[in-house]
Amino acid sequence: SAFSTSSSAYAPHNVKNITVFGSGLMGAGIVQVAAQNAFNVTMVDLNPEALKKGQDIIASSLKRVAKKQFPEDAAQQKTFIDKTMAQIKTSTDSEAASKDADLIIEAIVENLKTKQQLFSMLDKVAPEHTLFCSNTSSLPIGEIAKATKRTDRFGGLHFFNPVPQMKLVEVIRTEETSQDSFDSLMEVCTRMKKTPVSCKDTPGFIVNRLLVPYMMESLRIVERGEATPQDVDVAMKLGAGFPMGPFELADFVGLDTMKFIVDGWRKEGKIDDNLVAPVKLLDDLVAQGNFGRKSGQGFYPYN
Ligand code: CAA
Ligand code: NAD
Repeated sequence: SAFSTSSSAYAPHNVKNITVFGSGLMGAGIVQVAAQNAFNVTMVDLNPEALKKGQDIIASSLKRVAKKQFPEDAAQQKTFIDKTMAQIKTSTDSEAASKDADLIIEAIVENLKTKQQLFSMLDKVAPEHTLFCSNTSSLPIGEIAKATKRTDRFGGLHFFNPVPQMKLVEVIRTEETSQDSFDSLMEVCTRMKKTPVSCKDTPGFIVNRLLVPYMMESLRIVERGEATPQDVDVAMKLGAGFPMGPFELADFVGLDTMKFIVDGWRKEGKIDDNLVAPVKLLDDLVAQGNFGRKSGQGFYPYN
């Protein structure tokens, strides 16, 4: 192998092949953005049906991007779409899909054990130089990394929904992430035409640490009967310049996801309890299966 057993032989800034685990909303978005920027990408999921969903997400998002980039030039739109699609392979074979990976980005279900199991397996089959990272919204990167023997080549790459639109990526370094690994992750973001910011391995990193307590406090305003969701949304859009109000955003992120994040943080006990205290309004909607956009009903109806 070109890479010796010493990790000092690992050459940074040379990521060409990226393998993304998970072809859901986030995984598909990350695959798309990597492919648009000339990385060779492999998208992995558990079964062909899940991969098909991911391909459909990419196809419809690419159409939007193509129309925005080349308005009224159907030929250029088609070239852009074909060229991007040619950069993407799909696979249900995790081992084969990681053999040539320089970077593995994990965007599977938000469950610590499931993520640890995946990385423990990948640690044994991926090349030694391969960088590992997770797109987790709420779990500690260091806890996921513990499942591997490459904690120096492990970090967080936190993308935002919708990935093709949102310019930010949070790059998370744990106490053990090496400088080379960190530099490589920052460089990959830039090559994906995203703006990276760095953050330590803390609950919610920067964006969710601020956004989630803000959204919870919006729910409390409504629960106390002080204002309607509609008026809070109008207020934050026109009075604070947010692109979506907190209730539109909660429906967009998913109410189940919101609840999962605050429940997890309360249990973990690393952030002020008052910021993540349960709100009955949220718990009730989730219990009723009203998760927001994805289920057709949240604070607002969707069809
Ligand atoms: N690919 C996929 N979806 C796209 C897209 C693209 N290229 N462009 C837009 N979208 C989606 C939205 O989901 C929405 O869907 P529908 O059309 O099906 O209703 C729609 O496009 C809105 O797009 P518009 O073209 O009407 O609006 P826009 O392009 O001007 O702005 C926006 C859309 C960028 C989402 C803007 O409203 C915005 O910035 N909203 C806030 C988003 C935000 O805060 N995201 C972070 C959430 S937190 C997170 O992601 C972290 C976490 O860990 C949970
Ligand atoms: P999703 O449910 O849309 O997709 C998850 C995909 O992972 C599914 O297709 C599932 O089949 C697949 N999967 C599960 N186990 C797998 C395994 N062992 N190997 C391969 N594939 C597997 O979820 P999502 O919204 O895309 O979220 C993915 C990750 O991104 C989570 O960690 C989440 O916290 C994080 N995240 C989500 C958002 C958001 O707004 N949705 C934003 C930022 C980060």
